[in-house]
Amino acid sequence: MDDQNLMLTQPGPHSEKDLLYKLQVPFHRASVGEEEARAVSEVIRSGWITMGPKTFEFEREFATYVGAQHAIAVSTGTAALHLSLEAAGVQAGDEVLLPTTTFTATAEAVTYLGAFPILVDIEHATMNIDVEDALRRVTPKTKAIIPVHLAGQPCDLNEIHSLAQAHHLRVIEDAAHALPSEYQGKRVGKISEFTCFSFYATKTLTTGEGGMITTDNSEAAERMRLMRLHGINRDAWKRYRGDGSWFYEVMEAGFKYNLTDFQSAMGLVQLAKCDAMRQARQHIAQRYSAAFSALEEVIPPTVHPDRNSSWHLYILRLRLDRLTIDRERFIRTLQHRGVACSVHFIPLHLQPYYRRAYGYKIGDYPHAEQEYQSCLSLPIFPGMTDREINHVIATVQETIAESRLVHAGAAHVLPCA
Ligand SMILES: Cc1ncc(COP(=O)(O)O)c(C=O)c1O
Repeated sequence: MDDQNLMLTQPGPHSEKDLLYKLQVPFHRASVGEEEARAVSEVIRSGWITMGPKTFEFEREFATYVGAQHAIAVSTGTAALHLSLEAAGVQAGDEVLLPTTTFTATAEAVTYLGAFPILVDIEHATMNIDVEDALRRVTPKTKAIIPVHLAGQPCDLNEIHSLAQAHHLRVIEDAAHALPSEYQGKRVGKISEFTCFSFYATKTLTTGEGGMITTDNSEAAERMRLMRLHGINRDAWKRYRGDGSWFYEVMEAGFKYNLTDFQSAMGLVQLAKCDAMRQARQHIAQRYSAAFSALEEVIPPTVHPDRNSSWHLYILRLRLDRLTIDRERFIRTLQHRGVACSVHFIPLHLQPYYRRAYGYKIGDYPHAEQEYQSCLSLPIFPGMTDREINHVIATVQETIAESRLVHAGAAHVLPCA
């Protein structure tokens, strides 16, 4: 993407700094273009637009890409989690472990089945689920664990599998952020019994909305294919194509979770670019970390040497004891200077629903709360220009320079106005 797309308003006799402040770096810009548009319009022109040959092709290609035996395409990442939990046999009254630092979808899918989301604290280095804390929360009712690969860095899957084996838990990875990510040389998607991906608009592969489950469990794959389409044993493509039959049977009360052919056509184009897009994000992450690692006021993300991150997010943590402003004011300053940021995530135990429904309260997960106070996510997407990357770096450096606590002994944090 070239600089024509940047909002440089009021060109004129401005200093370089003034001009930079007019630069608006969005938090995300989808990396979709002509190729995706062509693929989608071909499907529309073909006359078959709902789930059919393109979706099945997308599933085959995706399974090959991650190295799994089966890939089941669905309408959202949330649907992927729901179908996996259902296929794993999670039922009303069961307990499912998951980190409090995640998007509500991870826990919400558990509640669809009448099971209880048991929130777990996170570890400092990766902000992923703390497996020791998970162990403390295992009860005879615990049936499954959902590790979430925050920002794209895989959880410690060996530790998770040891815990799961010892307590007979099913492992359902929430890999909404983790395409493509690797753990000990293996691509996420081929490691646990179930892996759930999201193709939401901001994700590393997008179909607008969409999701995928990968598994080597053929019985579970069959169950999920059945349940994603009303529990009907023959999908519409099988019934309506030339040699098809109108007959079908309803085997279960299923769900309407299928992905359409035009979304899958877009997914195929995106999948072919997936490695290149990851390279582009990694390049940005390296640029950021090279610039920020010299600053004592921030903690750049680190990736364990046995893992590769998709770099879906770049989460920077502030050392609030070295700054005169808090995270909120830091974000507002960046925004004012044209850098859009976000926060991943507000811990679930602080959210009104989870407090009301399950009695979670402030103070329950001290590590998650501490990281939440200090974290912000910077823009990172494949189409970022050098100019945009430089602007983000300069703006962060400048904001820190202005809010640096000079006398470390006098540390205090000004509340946000
Ligand atoms: C960690 C995590 N899990 C699950 C989801 C749900 O994915 P979807 O929006 O495709 O339903 C998201 C979406 O943002 C997510 O961030």
